[in-house]
Amino acid sequence: MARLVIVSNRVPPLKESGPMAGGLTVSLEEAVKRRELLWFGWSGESSDRREPRIASTGNRTHAVIDLTAQEHKLYYAGFCNGMLWPLLHYRFGLAQFRRAEEEGWRAVNRRFAEQLAPLLREDDTIWIHDFHLFPLAAALRDLGVRQKIGFFLHVPFPPPALFAALPRAAALLRDLQAIDLIGTQTAEDAEHLSDALRREGVSAQVGVFPVGINAEAFGRAAAQAASRKDAQRFRESLAGRELIFGVDRLDYSKGLPQRVLGFADLLKRYPQHRGKVTFLQAAPISRGEVTQYRMLRREMDELVGRINGEYAEVDWVPLRWTTRPIQRRTLAGFLRMANIALVTPLRDGMNLVAKEFVAAQPPEDPGVLILSQFAGAAREMEGAVKVNPNDPDEIAEALDLAINMPIAERRERWRMDYDRLAEAGASGWSRDFLASLNRAEFSPSGEGAWK
Ligand code: ADP
Ligand code: F6P
Repeated sequence: MARLVIVSNRVPPLKESGPMAGGLTVSLEEAVKRRELLWFGWSGESSDRREPRIASTGNRTHAVIDLTAQEHKLYYAGFCNGMLWPLLHYRFGLAQFRRAEEEGWRAVNRRFAEQLAPLLREDDTIWIHDFHLFPLAAALRDLGVRQKIGFFLHVPFPPPALFAALPRAAALLRDLQAIDLIGTQTAEDAEHLSDALRREGVSAQVGVFPVGINAEAFGRAAAQAASRKDAQRFRESLAGRELIFGVDRLDYSKGLPQRVLGFADLLKRYPQHRGKVTFLQAAPISRGEVTQYRMLRREMDELVGRINGEYAEVDWVPLRWTTRPIQRRTLAGFLRMANIALVTPLRDGMNLVAKEFVAAQPPEDPGVLILSQFAGAAREMEGAVKVNPNDPDEIAEALDLAINMPIAERRERWRMDYDRLAEAGASGWSRDFLASLNRAEFSPSGEGAWK
């Protein structure tokens, strides 16, 4: 089998320490376990060093480059997370366009191309990931790269009229012509992107490939983790109360203020639950260099303090809030212990936490997933209680429903979702995408279609 070259902004550590928080590295790690692989991207470090750092183990090589402080500012903090992220999550009001950042973003993509090109072999298949690297395929083609190039968008794509508000949107869309196959998480994203491309007269092949997880392996890990010391300590601290659990990067797309307000509404409107439930929300700090993220942290610290101030008893704190990182294994154990998972992003490409919660549940006594209708996962999770995450009252009602849900209904809903997850598996996503890429008939790299 030919070598696979993955290119993504983040590259996980090469050693077996497991992926970092974030759906992209988690799903790719699962998907590409056994293949000969070159993984290229940013080291996560800032320095003036130019050459890539290359390290290998077995049939796997990671090549990472540092960004200069200026590149990091313009590309990552600026255009990627200050402009593209809010835009792609339908939050144009939070986006800030600065031409220097867009240019810095393009320059970093050209640098990725220049440093990756010499590492490529003739029969490589190249798979680029996520919005950070929209122009990379075009930059590679400009350098004469003719291998097949696939691209997967892990986040949503908004309606074309909204996307068109981005200055120079047309140039971005035209660059996608260099790609042989573009994958999205949902049919809605594919439709939006195809429409946007059509409006620019760009022909590119777009397909739907929802990211999955290895449900059986995650379930096993969760069962083991739930019997570990940290999980036991946590269980004891709950003193028999129902556990509501949320875990997300601290990101405004995750709907955290609305979620804790929904929990506060539960305590207000259904006082019978006071003292009987504990809500743990873990939200490790993400992209702290971006103003909107720092503002969210302040807002959450204040909201949580206010809610606890209003409802806590001397022996009961309703809302536990932590922005510290949690180990993935610990997280799996907590997901198993949770009676209810609150997964209420305002907009999310897929949301793996929703799938991990279902995978982690004990079949004989499964918990209830409350899921935003605007997460990509909502398309697949028919057993979940769906909510509009913008409405705290609706979240409160869903919580009350979940707390009172009879066990037969819980089992029925869980079974439906678990079976579907287990059937799809983790590797189906990459296998299907790569098979389609291999077959992709439209090949702008051939016959001089690219320049
Ligand atoms: P996103 O890609 O926007 O972060 P996802 O829900 O798709 O959202 O993916 C998040 C991934 O990161 C999941 O696999 C989840 O288990 C993991 N994760 C989330 N929070 C933490 C955390 N505190 N510690 C470790 N892993 C986390
Ligand atoms: O899953 C979407 C995504 O943007 C990934 O591309 C990214 O790795 C993850 O969220 C976490 O964000 P960041 O890499 O900015 O910390």
